[in-house]
Amino acid sequence: MTLVDSRIVLPAIAITSMILFTEAAADATQAQTSTPQSTTANGYQPRWWKEAIVYQVYPRSFKDSNGDGIGDLKGITSKLDYIEGLGANVIWLSPHYDSPNADNGYDIRNYRKVMAEFGTMADFDELLKGIKQRHMKLILDLVVNHSSDEHAWFVESRKSKDNPYRDYYIWRPANAAHEPNNWVSFFSGSAWKLDPATKEYYLHLFAEKQPDLNWDNPSVRQEVYDLMKFWLDKGVDGFRMDVIPFISKRERLPDLPPAYLTRPQYFYAMGPHLHEYLQEMNREVLSKYDVMTVGEAFGVTLEQTPTLVDERRNELNMIFNFDVVRLNRDGRKWRNWNLPEMKAVYTTQDKALDVHSWNTIFLSNHDNPRVVSTFGDDSPGFRVPSAKLLATMLLTLKGTPFIYQGDELGMTNYPFTHIEEFDDIEVKNAWKAEVLTGKVKADDYIANLRKTSRDHSRTPMQWDSSSNGGFTTAANPWLAVNPNYKDINARQELADPNSIYNYFSKMAKLREKTPALVYGDYEDLDPQNMKIFLYTRTLGTDKYLVVLNFSEDNISYTLPGGLKAGQLQISNLGTKEQNTAALKLKGWEARVYKQ
Ligand code: NOJ
Repeated sequence: MTLVDSRIVLPAIAITSMILFTEAAADATQAQTSTPQSTTANGYQPRWWKEAIVYQVYPRSFKDSNGDGIGDLKGITSKLDYIEGLGANVIWLSPHYDSPNADNGYDIRNYRKVMAEFGTMADFDELLKGIKQRHMKLILDLVVNHSSDEHAWFVESRKSKDNPYRDYYIWRPANAAHEPNNWVSFFSGSAWKLDPATKEYYLHLFAEKQPDLNWDNPSVRQEVYDLMKFWLDKGVDGFRMDVIPFISKRERLPDLPPAYLTRPQYFYAMGPHLHEYLQEMNREVLSKYDVMTVGEAFGVTLEQTPTLVDERRNELNMIFNFDVVRLNRDGRKWRNWNLPEMKAVYTTQDKALDVHSWNTIFLSNHDNPRVVSTFGDDSPGFRVPSAKLLATMLLTLKGTPFIYQGDELGMTNYPFTHIEEFDDIEVKNAWKAEVLTGKVKADDYIANLRKTSRDHSRTPMQWDSSSNGGFTTAANPWLAVNPNYKDINARQELADPNSIYNYFSKMAKLREKTPALVYGDYEDLDPQNMKIFLYTRTLGTDKYLVVLNFSEDNISYTLPGGLKAGQLQISNLGTKEQNTAALKLKGWEARVYKQ
C-alpha cells in the first residue's frame, strides 16, 4: 500500500466493513488531533500509521557503499527497491546523527548533523527523496532522554556550577562521600559519575558517555522541540522515541527500592511529569504535522499503555511494550518461554486497549537477538517455515507491525564463542562487572550471550554470497558477518519464489487488501494450547482465522467450538486443506483462512 496518497489507493480495498476510507484518508492529511470523519465497523479511526508496515534499518549494518566496513546512507538509498519489494511502506532509521558511538549512535553529539561515517546531509536528503519517490515514509530515532557527553550542551554543563547549561543535565553533590543515590545504570554499575571539574555527580541511566537530560528545565524541552521541527520540516514522517518514559525523573530522586534493583526500568519509567511533557510536545510540535510516533516504552506495563496512547490524551500514537520480546529473559539471563505466556500477553494487551488506542507488534529489533533463533527454530529443517510462521503472526496480530532488517531473510544468531567478538557496550561493561569480578563464569556468560546478545541482530546484512555477504568491499566489516551468508542471503531469496522474503511480501499484500487484518477484533480461541496459536480477526462480517503451529511436531488438530477452517488465503507449507474442522498441521505450519 502506498501511503502518501491513500485517497487513490484506499477505495480499491474498501469493503462493506470498512467505511468511507476516502474521508479517513483526507483527514489523515490534517493534524493528528483533528476530528475524524468516519470509523471502521468496530469503531476505529482509520489512520495511515495503523495500516503501515514498518521496516527498521540499523544503518551501521545495512549496506556499506564506500568500502570502509560501515553501513551508510548511500547504501540504504541503493536498497530502497528491496525494502519496497518486501511490502514495507515506512522505514524507521536507527540514529544517523553525529555521534562518538559509545552506544552506536544512541549517544548524540549533534542532533542536526549526519554521522560522518554514514555520509552527509546531502546523502540524507537523497535518501528521503528516494523514499518519497516510492510513496514510502521515513521515521527517525529521537534520542532525547540523554545526549552524548560530547554534545556542546554537556561540554558547557560540566564546566562550572554556574554555567548557563548546568541545568540541562542532572547534577547532584555526593551523598556522604557516595553517589547521590543507589540508582543503577542499564550498562552496569552506578548510574552516577563523579565529574572532576566540579566534583559533582551527573546522572546517566545508560553509559557514562550518555548523560541524562534534565526535562524539568523548560529550555531543554524547547531545544528538543526545535530539533524535532528541524527534521519534520525536512519532510520526515515521525519519530521512534528512545526510552521516552524515562524523561521525567521521580521527585527528589529517591533510592531504588530493593525489588527494583534488577528491573529498574519500572522505577525509572512513568515519572510525575511524563504525560505533561508529552502533551506539551504534542501541542508544540506533533499536532502541527501528519506524523507517526512510537515510544520505546521499556518499563511501561500493559495496563499503563492506554495512558500514553489513548488518542484523546494527545501524547503518542503507539508504544513498544516489551512483554513479548522479553518473555525469554529473567534480568539478563535467558529463560525458557512458552506459548500460553505469549498468548496471554497479546490478550492482556488487547484487553487493555480500546478503539481510542493503538499499539505495535514486534518480535525483534537492534536490542534483541534474531527473531527466528528466539521465537522460531533456526535448525536447518525448520528455519524457513518457522521464520514464515513468525511473519504470518507479525502481520496478522492487531497493531502496527515492525520488522527488523534481516529477519525477512531468516537471518540467525551469530555463533559467538569469545568476548572479543562482541562490540556492544552493554556486553563489555557487564563482562567487567560480572566476569572479571568472579561473580559469573566466563563460559556461562558467553553461553547466555549466545542466546540473548544485542549483537546478534547487529551483524551486517547478508546481501549475497560474495565475501562478507556483499555488505562491504572492506576486508573487515565493523562487526563480523554471520558465516552462514553463503546459504542465507538476499540475492538467493529474491530469486526463490518460496523464500521467506517472498512469503513476507505475499503476506504484506494480503494484509494490505484485508482491513480485518488491520482493524479487526482479536480473539484467542485456544489460549492454553502449548503448541498451537489459533486466533480470529473480525471486522463487521469479515472474519479471518489464523492457525500457527509453534512446534516441530506434525499435529492433527480439530478446531474448537464447531469451527471450520474456511477458505485458505495463504499458507507457509503449501497445504490445500480448507473448509474443514480437522487440520493436519506440519511442524511450524502457518495458515490464514477466511471464514
Ligand atoms: C534503547 C535503544 O534501543 C538502545 O539501543 C540504547 O542502547 C538505549 N536505548 C540507550 O539509548
